[in-house]
Amino acid sequence: MRIGEHELSTNLFLSPLASYTNLPFRLTIREIGGLGWATTDLVNARSLLERNRTALKLVATSPEDRPLAIQLFGSVPEEMRDAAIMCEELGAQSVDINMGCPVKKVVKVGGGSAMMNELDKTAALVKGMVDAVKIPITAKMRLGWDDDNLTAPDLTRVLEDSGVAAVFVHGRTRAQGFDGRVNLDGIRSVIEAVSTIPVIGNGDITTPEAAKHMLDETGCDGVSIGRGAFYDPWIFKRTAHFLATGEMVPEPTFDERIRVMSAHFERYCVFYGEEHGARLFRKVAPWYAKRFGPSKPFKQTITAIKSRADFQTALDTYLQWRKQFCDEDGELLPRFQLEPMSASFMSEETDKQAGLNRTAIPVPKGPVDVW
Ligand SMILES: Cc1cc2nc3c(=O)[nH]c(=O)nc-3n(C[C@H](O)[C@H](O)[C@H](O)COP(=O)(O)O)c2cc1C
Repeated sequence: MRIGEHELSTNLFLSPLASYTNLPFRLTIREIGGLGWATTDLVNARSLLERNRTALKLVATSPEDRPLAIQLFGSVPEEMRDAAIMCEELGAQSVDINMGCPVKKVVKVGGGSAMMNELDKTAALVKGMVDAVKIPITAKMRLGWDDDNLTAPDLTRVLEDSGVAAVFVHGRTRAQGFDGRVNLDGIRSVIEAVSTIPVIGNGDITTPEAAKHMLDETGCDGVSIGRGAFYDPWIFKRTAHFLATGEMVPEPTFDERIRVMSAHFERYCVFYGEEHGARLFRKVAPWYAKRFGPSKPFKQTITAIKSRADFQTALDTYLQWRKQFCDEDGELLPRFQLEPMSASFMSEETDKQAGLNRTAIPVPKGPVDVW
């Protein structure tokens, strides 16, 4: 598939996850393979224009970190336009606009006309950005405010007319937060609303089967994966293989998980400096640990690391402790093995056939309003 002039290697996207989808994480995933396109965490357009240090760190990239979209957040048209120009100068392949859910409760009081005002404003802002740069502008949204206000199809139509090159849709409303099933019909209604631009579906994809299910059921052009990549940075590689061949690559071994987690940690130390990187990695390591099997002591000690040495000690101690749950080949004994992951939108029937137990994906704390 294409975004603007960019031909992608796969139709698999990394969703922006504030505080996580930094350069070290993107490089870790890219090295594993299968990823077609990545997006930075959301960046405040004004902060970027002011060359705020945090904002510049968020857009930091490297030659291997391609193709990359920078996600901007803001509502002042001139700032969004100038920040898009800056992103282009910084070498980004695209700019994504965070639309969380731009249509406020105003639709309740003002009805259709208020909504159209809001859409007009959005269209003008987007058009200003599209006209100012050569790189493609995309937009990411939810389905709408709540079930009575599924505004994404109307918004998408306006965005397409304003020149956006693709749209990303998380198949939930703002009111839903991260609860309940992803609404595949809702995603399909966005696809039906556009004429030519690709629509990328998003929400709860934690397995290659779930990615295929969303593609098949909605007709979306690609899928974007967020939290599923925490658990399984291999998901892109495994999904690309599954979509191409129908064969399921086994989940990575424990040793491979440790290798990749350690490389990810080292990238944190290089990118943020050893102490700050180690502190930040305290909240990353537990995501890997969710797929380790028994790991309580590791999750505890890792939350106190301040250095490479602390990380190594926590890991070595854990590897010793974990042996009691393994057979002589180092495999977890059957009673400690984990259930496969599944996605909330796969029907109970499908779940049963696939032998899956449905579990909600944990959500780290953060401003759901803008996601
Ligand atoms: C911790 C966290 C941070 C997020 N940060 C952003 C963000 O910066 N920009 C954005 O558009 N969406 C953000 N989202 C929403 C995700 O991109 C994605 O739409 C949502 O998590 C659903 O996809 P998933 O089920 O694959 O995670 C965030 C979600 C989470 C859980």
